Amino acid sequence: MSTPRAFVTRTLLPEALDVIREVADVTVWPEETPPSVEDLRRHAGDSEGILTTIMDRVDGDLLDAAPRLRAISQLAVGLDNVDVAEATRRGIPVGYTPGVLAKSTADLAMALLLGAARRTSESERWLRGGGWQIQFHPTHWLGQDVHEACLGIVGLGQIGREIAKRAGGFDMDIVYHSRTRYPDAEAVYGLRYAEFNDVLAQADFVVLSVPLTPQTHHLISGPQLAMMKPSAILINVSRGPVVDPAALYEALRDGQIARAALDVTSPEPIALDDPLLTLDSLVITPHIGSAALPTRLNTMKLAARNLVAGLKGEPMEACANVEAVG
Ligand code: GLV
Repeated sequence: MSTPRAFVTRTLLPEALDVIREVADVTVWPEETPPSVEDLRRHAGDSEGILTTIMDRVDGDLLDAAPRLRAISQLAVGLDNVDVAEATRRGIPVGYTPGVLAKSTADLAMALLLGAARRTSESERWLRGGGWQIQFHPTHWLGQDVHEACLGIVGLGQIGREIAKRAGGFDMDIVYHSRTRYPDAEAVYGLRYAEFNDVLAQADFVVLSVPLTPQTHHLISGPQLAMMKPSAILINVSRGPVVDPAALYEALRDGQIARAALDVTSPEPIALDDPLLTLDSLVITPHIGSAALPTRLNTMKLAARNLVAGLKGEPMEACANVEAVG
């Protein structure tokens, strides 16, 4: 059998590319920006395997253009850019990267939560802008306490659980809502289950850790923001479109909620003239949830191993559609 061809849509760390090069002729997209739809189609059409990121749309049209494809490996735990049902219909396994990045994403969720609560970005901007002209002032820069506050977690997958674990260290009172109730996690992490609206109403901090699906698109919009406390802080480490950005802007502008911290936006990248960026009550990072070096390396290696397994016709370590390969 001839050596299979693999298309990798972004540059990876060499250790991960080497794993794929052992079994395939690898083409790596050389640009900083992702391949266009046409470029992706052209390269996928010529390949047995593709390794994709969240910026690449893998839909029926792409799969139609790639008749040789027998493995898709996504470098992410979220698969909202991949039409997994279409891949399954064609018998193509879709790999993804659960497990390896949950802890780092939870770390970042806590960083955003703490930063928004204690106004770290805002006060640093003030300091760098020359604002710190007087010494310690007892009434300046008052933020919110994190310890013993009520944390609402929406979505109790691996990331949600890791957030709960960390929040326990801050003696937070943790309430969660998830499609499924998890009595095991309630016992282990001391969580209370509540209806979605009750989580919004009770929490001092609401963290979103749900996948993006048609059901979670704009899960947080005007009516949900109106249910939150005026002192509440919203943190999103899931996907940008889970929050309606126009509604969030209005809620922050009008003081309906106190602050927000976003690692994900809609669209990505956020436009520099987006009104959200005019608000000091917003903490924002450029989708860096899993961007810690050891975690990213492990994630890349897992994605590479998934691709290799798919190319060899072997079971992937983490496959979103095991039924595709019967
Ligand atoms: C990153 O956003 C991921 O889904 O892994």
